[in-house]
Amino acid sequence: MDEKMIQEITQRGRDFLKSQDTMEMERNGLEGYQTDQELKRPQPPLVKAPMTDSPIDLPRDFENLGMEDNLVQLLLKRKSSRVYTQEDMSLLQLSFLLWGTQGVKDIRGKSYATLRTVPAGGARHPFETYLLVRQVEGLVPGMYHYLPMTHQLELLSAQEDPQALLDFAEESLCGQRWAAKANVVFYWSFVPYRSEWRYGIFAHKLIMADVGHVGENLYLACAALGLGTCGIGAYDQATTRRCATRPSSWTGKRSTWSTPRPWAPSRPRTRAKRRPSTALWRSRGCKMRPLLPLCMEGERGERCAATRGKEHG
Ligand SMILES: Cc1cc2nc3c(=O)[nH]c(=O)nc-3n(C[C@H](O)[C@H](O)[C@H](O)COP(=O)(O)O)c2cc1C
Repeated sequence: MDEKMIQEITQRGRDFLKSQDTMEMERNGLEGYQTDQELKRPQPPLVKAPMTDSPIDLPRDFENLGMEDNLVQLLLKRKSSRVYTQEDMSLLQLSFLLWGTQGVKDIRGKSYATLRTVPAGGARHPFETYLLVRQVEGLVPGMYHYLPMTHQLELLSAQEDPQALLDFAEESLCGQRWAAKANVVFYWSFVPYRSEWRYGIFAHKLIMADVGHVGENLYLACAALGLGTCGIGAYDQATTRRCATRPSSWTGKRSTWSTPRPWAPSRPRTRAKRRPSTALWRSRGCKMRPLLPLCMEGERGERCAATRGKEHG
């Protein structure tokens, strides 16, 4: 890549971080610009419709978890862990992590908005959660989708071959095998039109800010349970694009699928181990990128349109 192109791309990234209102005003003038909400166009569904018809209820008796609930202690404990014990995680623990990151506390209006355990710009909550489950009591290993309205999981694809699961996770995490060994890997995708409907051309930076809250809640929820986790910015975009569909095949390199922004909660080993080398994912062409966009589900609400009217709650 030549220097000029590097500079252009860098500038685009910097511009993205600036206030889009001001930027677009300067460039194009925005008088008269209205978002779809202002234009009274129909609102997209608050969540993605289930993809299967046999959801799994998640337990909610979180008081049985015996958690650390002192905020100062939690903030002190919060850290990234990269070595895991390989003990089972309970379904109740996983349930708490899902509730803590995307759980629905209330619904406002006639399905106008969800209020959740995390904040989101305009309460749009554009994310969908996918889980690669390796070792959770009561769940067959495989890929799952979280249904936040009903606090349920749906199994998208089972995979009982532990090696295939590991290979898939490792590939999606750009060769970070230590992370692939987590009990469960969280992958978050976003449905852009949920935010764009309200914020139009200004939605995208908000989505990036929103996901930081989701990740931090996972860190804190893990700290409360004595579990380890680590945010992952280095992921393979080509495989991640295929996340939001039911995988048809788990075998072979590049035949697997996932979505970005994985987090890998698991039980941390107490003694710190050697940090993994960045050379591994560099060698695979996956450089460390500290803040990455999420996987999109459809352009401008395509998928929303497909599921419109089918939302539950
Ligand atoms: C968005 C984001 C992406 C990250 N990506 C990776 C990653 O790909 N690999 C890794 O080993 N650590 C990753 N981390 C963990 C950071 O390296 C870690 O947060 C940082 O070193 C500070 O350590 P602490 O979390 O224990 O305070 C990521 C953290 C965040 C928030």
